[in-house]
Amino acid sequence: MTDLTGKVALVTGAARGQGAAEAILFAERGAKVMVCDVLDDEGKKLAAEIGDAAAYIRLDVTKEQDWEAAVAATVKKFGKLNVLINNAGIITVPKVMAETSTADYQKVINVNQLGVFLGMRSVAGAMKDAGGGSIINISSIDGLVGMYGAAAYVASKFAVRGMTKVAALEMGRDNIRVNSIHPGGVATKILDDTGLTQDEAGEVFKSVPLGRIGQPREMATLAAYLASDDSSYSTGAEFIADGGMTAGFALEL
Ligand SMILES: NC(=O)c1ccc[n+]([C@@H]2O[C@H](COP(=O)([O-])OP(=O)(O)OC[C@H]3O[C@@H](n4cnc5c(N)ncnc54)[C@H](O)[C@@H]3O)[C@@H](O)[C@H]2O)c1
Repeated sequence: MTDLTGKVALVTGAARGQGAAEAILFAERGAKVMVCDVLDDEGKKLAAEIGDAAAYIRLDVTKEQDWEAAVAATVKKFGKLNVLINNAGIITVPKVMAETSTADYQKVINVNQLGVFLGMRSVAGAMKDAGGGSIINISSIDGLVGMYGAAAYVASKFAVRGMTKVAALEMGRDNIRVNSIHPGGVATKILDDTGLTQDEAGEVFKSVPLGRIGQPREMATLAAYLASDDSSYSTGAEFIADGGMTAGFALEL
């Protein structure tokens, strides 16, 4: 089992979904966790449920001041910061490019792309002070292939994949590893914003090779591996957890 003893993790978008699953699993495996989100009630409730190993702070990933405060609060509370999961993300209702407004495009880029940039930049000093660390950027299979009606989301997730590699190049000498996770369909509330009900999403993802949608805990176990010393020689790499969705075409000829 992955051991996260001695790790102090800041997880964005951790009030629910994959971020919450990561916060819970990381604490179970011995880490201290700063739960961060803009959903204050849910975030505080989750941190209280986890107990002494967790605390909550409001962090809007698009705001530089929030990042400064969250990093400082994490170091003050838990003594250091050596894991960051840039997990917060949004999607908007699918629309073809011709019908996508500039405001909608920029909203997605701000959270999914600028938020990840600010996160990596904000933790670099604290991680260096800690002797190194692991940054895990949650991209998507939409950072590997296109998705109809999701120009901004796809652009942001490709950007996360690219930035991950730049950060890996720049931070390697400080013993900071930077990797991206590329989930396929995962049963969380973000799917509501695509216009699909959870039941409909469950049906859609029956077509992937593993025949089902993914669960948040299945992304958390991958993130735990990347946060742990078990992945000590991986940096700048892409880790896909998509039930085989991007493996190819399942045409029986
Ligand atoms: N669920 C999927 O099918 C799927 C697939 C691929 C990638 N992803 C990615 O996984 C990540 C987690 O999403 P999820 O599936 O758990 O969905 P989710 O909607 O349950 O969780 C996203 C979290 O991000 C938070 N958030 C949104 N804007 C924020 C901001 N400005 N600052 C801080 N927090 C903010 C939300 O409040 C929410 O708690 C996202 O980056 C998403 O793009 C999801």
